[in-house]
Parts: sequence; C-alpha cells; structure tokens
Amino acid sequence: MEEKKDVLLRMTDISKSFPGVKALDRAQLTLRAGTVHALMGENGAGKSTLMKCLFGIYSKDEGHIYLEGREVNFRSSREALDHGVAMVHQELNQALKRNVMDNIWLGRYPRVKGLPFVSEKQMYADTMKVFEELDLHVDPRTMMSAMPVSQRQMVEIAKAVSFHSKVIVLDEPTSSLTEQEVEHLFRIIRMIRDRGCGIIYISHKMDEILQISDEVTIMRDGQYIATKPAEDLTKEEIIRLMVGREMTNQFPPKLHSATDEDIMRVEGLTAEYSHLKDVSFSLKKGEILGVAGLDGSGRTELLENIFGVATRRSGKIFKNGRQIRNKTPREAIRNGLALLTEERRATGIFGILSVRENTVIASLKSYVSGLFLRDKIMTDKTEEMIRAMAIKTPSQKTKIRSLSGGNQQKVIFGRWILTSPDILLLDEPTRGIDVGAKYEIYQLIQNLSKEGKSVIMVSSEMPELLGVCDRILVMSDGRLAGEVDADQTTQEEIMTLASEYA
Ligand SMILES: Nc1ncnc2c1ncn2[C@@H]1O[C@H](COP(=O)(O)OP(=O)(O)OP(=O)(O)O)[C@@H](O)[C@H]1O
Ligand SMILES: [Mg+2]
Repeated sequence: MEEKKDVLLRMTDISKSFPGVKALDRAQLTLRAGTVHALMGENGAGKSTLMKCLFGIYSKDEGHIYLEGREVNFRSSREALDHGVAMVHQELNQALKRNVMDNIWLGRYPRVKGLPFVSEKQMYADTMKVFEELDLHVDPRTMMSAMPVSQRQMVEIAKAVSFHSKVIVLDEPTSSLTEQEVEHLFRIIRMIRDRGCGIIYISHKMDEILQISDEVTIMRDGQYIATKPAEDLTKEEIIRLMVGREMTNQFPPKLHSATDEDIMRVEGLTAEYSHLKDVSFSLKKGEILGVAGLDGSGRTELLENIFGVATRRSGKIFKNGRQIRNKTPREAIRNGLALLTEERRATGIFGILSVRENTVIASLKSYVSGLFLRDKIMTDKTEEMIRAMAIKTPSQKTKIRSLSGGNQQKVIFGRWILTSPDILLLDEPTRGIDVGAKYEIYQLIQNLSKEGKSVIMVSSEMPELLGVCDRILVMSDGRLAGEVDADQTTQEEIMTLASEYA
C-alpha cells in the first residue's frame, strides 16, 4: 500500500474478541507526524485495547499495522519501544522498589566502556540530560515509591522520550495530575510534537482534548466512527459521535432534597500531619455538599480526616447530635459513612475476583442468613448496580481486571453504595468516567439524596459542582474560605474564595 508521506502510523481493520465481547470490530487509526491525535470513546469503547494491540500486549485477531509504510507486528512493548513506539499506560506498571533512573534505563543500562559493569555515572548523567530537556526537577536517585503518582507519570513520559520514540501513546495521562502539572505535560507534548513525533492522546477530558489535539478519532463499541480535525469539532459534536445520540443535558435536574435536619456537624477539625486547620461545617440530611478548592487546598485531607484515614489533632464530629470519633475507617463505616477514594483504581480493586465479588465485598454482612450467604440477593444487588451505572461487563462472573478502566471505577462506586451509608464521601467521583456514565452517576447521587442520604463531594470540575450540589464549601490552604449556595454562585466567586489564603 502506498502511504502518504506524512503518515507515521496506520492501523486498519483491527478486530479483537475476548470471551463474550467483541472489543474491537474493524477499528482504524491514522496518525500523522507532528500531530497530537486524540482517541475518544465511552468507557469500554476499545481505546486501550486498540493500543494494546499495537504494542503486542494483546494479539489482534485481524487487521494490519503500518509504521512509516512498513507493516509491523510487535510481539511485546519492548519490541515496539525498540522501533520507536512507546506507551504510557492507564495503569502505571513501574518497579516501585527501585529508583527513578533504574526505571528509565531498565534493560538497557549504559556499560562502563569495555567492561560488563553498569555505569551509574553515565546513567545519572543521561537521566539528568533528559530531565533538563523536559524541565523536570526530580532527583534520578529518588525511590519510585517515594514519589506521588503524578511524578511517576512524568518519569514514564521521560522514559518514552529517552528512547527517541516517534510515536508516543498516552492513555489518560492527566487523570492524577494537578493543573500546573497538566500545563507542564502539555508543554512537553507540544515540544515533542514539534520535533515531528506523533502523539496518541486518550482522555475523557473534553476541554483538554480541544486544547491539545490536532485531530480526533472517535470510537464506539469497538468500531471506528470518525476522524476529524479538532478545530472543526465542538464538545457537543464529540459527545454526539461518542454516545451515538443527542445528549442535551449534562446534568440531571437537581432534586434539592436537603432537609433542615443536621445529620453531621464538624467542629474545628485540625489534622496532625497535614495543613488542614480549624474546619467547621454542618451537613443536612439529604444534602449534596460540594467541596471546591485548588489542588493541595486540603479537600482530600478533609474527607480522610472525617473518615479516620488520617490522624486528627483536634476537632469534633457529631452525627445526629451525638459525638462520634471515627478513629479508623472501620469505625467510620460502623457509624454509617463511606469513602470513595481518589485513587480507587490503585487501592480498591481485587483484580482476580469477579465483578460480583468486587461489588458485594464491602456489604457481605447484609447477605448473611444463618451460616450462608444469600446468593440470589448478591446477584440482584450486583445487577442493580450494573444497571444503575450502565457498567459494561459480559457477566457478573467476569474478572474485574478485564473491564475497561472506567468500568472498574463504576464497580467500586457500586460497592460503597451497597454498604447503604447515611453519609457518602466522594473524592473526584467521575474522574476517568465518560460523559454518558457521568450523567448516570449524577443521577445516582440525586437519587441517593432523595432517599435521605447525604453526600459530600470533592471535585476539581467546577461545572460539576455547580450542576450537582446544593451547597459548596470552598477550601483554601487547608482552611475553609467560605461556603456558597450552588444555585446563586459563579465560578469566579468560587475561584476568588479558593485563592483567599493561597
Ligand atoms: N483482557 C480482557 N479480557 C476480557 N475483556 C477485555 C479485556 N480487555 C478489554 N476487554 C473488554 O474490551 C472492551 C474494551 O475495553 P477497553 O479497555 O479497550 O476500553 P476503553 O475504551 O479503554 O475504556 P476506558 O475509557 O474505560 O478506559 C471492554 O468491554 C472490556 O471489558
Ligand atoms: Mg482505557
């Protein structure tokens, strides 16, 4: 086949089936040199699978892959890497017990000239060179486990660059990055793009896609839908192509179920090991309370302190007028709270267990009858969650690790809902979740509030807080800078409060 000159990578008619699912059905992708190409689609559309076929992590059933016009068929990521094709995975798999430079050079250590020894000095110098180029301020001798996920991700990107890769795939790279880190990442992406690299960028963040990409390919149910220049696309158009129908509303109508009754009061909450200081507020029965603030303003710490994950220096918590202590998460669960963490993919998944087991694991107590677990109820409850959130899985028995990233998150969400908490603490509940499923989750939150449950929801997405919550607390540098009525406020007002002590 004659390739157009500027085409770097072309994938045609790629099909791939797993037991019970046709994950890819003649999918295709054409990546040009010097462009950022966004790959979009709902959770389970086949984005990660398409990339895993490129890297030989999965072997495709059908189709062809051409790199600069020559057909290739990589059998491993290593082989792809040797041909200048690199990927930063949705789930990072790094050697956490080793340092940064080991992770970058693993398997291709520079040698001491003429000797079979690794040259540490060389390795250090080479790493520093890459880091300087990318403006990364990380000591190459730092242990991977000592760094936050965001920095580990940057290291992974540095690794791709260090291989002089022509094609770099980033699968949801920004899901755990702060705003400044995203800006930094975008500077790096633009730099390598301008050198003639092609970048495949997978993300659910619409604004980022429109900001960084040159072309967009949209997939649905494993099939290719369209490729268009980003400048010809609007958010609405992308959503329409992704979900295959018009989505007129991003948010379900608010039910405003908040009552006058306080279910919880927090007084003077101050953390032992973080800057969280003197936070007081109350939560009504049936209320959806948002928590806004810049990264590092103490939003996650607030939830962790209430839930007993982090140590409290002082402060009191009352539930229904009675003081509760929540010294450990267990105690918090017993007191009717549940916490959906930000890093749920890393901390919440039992990979080899089934979807059903992962769903019911936190609420097993409620299925016990005498000595037996009541199977039927577990199955029904799991089915209810699958339906409520449109979880894409071939069956309840499927191992959770074979679900797409976004669908795994929905399962974990369902797990906490089934513990029937009175108070649900949600940290970035829709991160990594596609637009259609976001709507389902908002709907679920509204319904919970209607049933008299209360929700505290941390989010970095301001429209989401405004579109879902009744009231919003604004944190700034570990303190409460203010509280606003979600229907009366503006993004500007929240931003001003958020920078009050910053
Ligand atoms: N190893 C596997 N075994 C069985 N099914 C799989 C496996 N890997 C992927 N699938 C299925 O293939 C489909 C596509 O999944 P994929 O991970 O490619 O989706 P995605 O577009 O990356 O979604 P997300 O946005 O949620 O990450 C899903 O239905 C998923 O369950
Ligand atoms: Mg994926």
